[in-house]
Amino acid sequence: MAPDPDRSFARYLEAKRTVDDRALNVRVWDRLRSEIVVSGEERTSPLKVLEIGGGVGTMVERLRYSAMLGECDYTLLDNDSELIDAAQIRLTRSHDMKIHYVVADAFEYLSDPGQHGAWDLIVANAVLDLTDLGTSVPTLMNGLEPGGLLYSSINYDGLTTFAPVIDEWLDTHIERLYNRSMHKRRPDGTESVGSKCGRELIPALREAGAQVLEAGSSDWVVFADHNGYHADEEYFLRHILGFVEDELVGHPELDRESFASWLTTRQFQVRTGELVYIAHQIDALARRPQPQEN
Ligand SMILES: C[S@@+](CC[C@H](N)C(=O)[O-])C[C@H]1O[C@@H](n2cnc3c(N)ncnc32)[C@H](O)[C@@H]1O
Repeated sequence: MAPDPDRSFARYLEAKRTVDDRALNVRVWDRLRSEIVVSGEERTSPLKVLEIGGGVGTMVERLRYSAMLGECDYTLLDNDSELIDAAQIRLTRSHDMKIHYVVADAFEYLSDPGQHGAWDLIVANAVLDLTDLGTSVPTLMNGLEPGGLLYSSINYDGLTTFAPVIDEWLDTHIERLYNRSMHKRRPDGTESVGSKCGRELIPALREAGAQVLEAGSSDWVVFADHNGYHADEEYFLRHILGFVEDELVGHPELDRESFASWLTTRQFQVRTGELVYIAHQIDALARRPQPQEN
């Protein structure tokens, strides 16, 4: 199967927005809102928010729409300049909020001494699985001022399901190899936590001295109703299958023809609205304690 030459990561992130909207854990979201309201009663300057790996800015829109931030100074950071350009076009077109755009590696940025204790809130949506939690979480905590919040959402937790079943053994084998492919060696020599991000996040937060205030699941469930897939979610699914193909094509533990046929069937199921896609994820809200709480 030839890869789709028109696949756009920016469009995938936009299409993911409605999937995330349904998935985000409401209890964690509401706790974030109430923590911001309570801390706002004592704040004398605008809330300082840093979003890392912010992509095309869909979380900015979500937070704006919820009106939970009030007056704030928002920095949207991503290491991909094309995504930051796309975010700038999308967000200035529709909003008047003052946003600072930064192209940088989040952890290099936060290791600058000027960033230590600089932020009231750090947001990371669908990002931490790409990192080594043993190093990324302490860096994020260090970036928060005492009492500051880390909202980390859509942390993949190792369960991907494509339904209906094609071949139980092959489906499970592909899902297992796909999970395994997410553990990647990073440029700094560490390994990304990948498919174990959800389950390892809370222990990593505690290890870094954070107080975990709330946590819960935020599973993606994508299906078509009688009108087809919602919004641009057919594109989202095509892109997900593209990720699976990119990772596993030519894999030594996968029969080439069986995999090609599996992909063709799954792509057909997307066109007919039959495919159901489920991914298990975790959201968490944590706080950097005040010195007297340590
Ligand atoms: C799966 S996307 C999620 C984007 C966005 N948060 C969303 O949910 O739509 C992960 C994003 O993290 C960015 N990213 C990955 N590692 C990063 C790093 N070390 N520093 C900054 N951005 C990073 C990628 O460029 C990508 O935009």
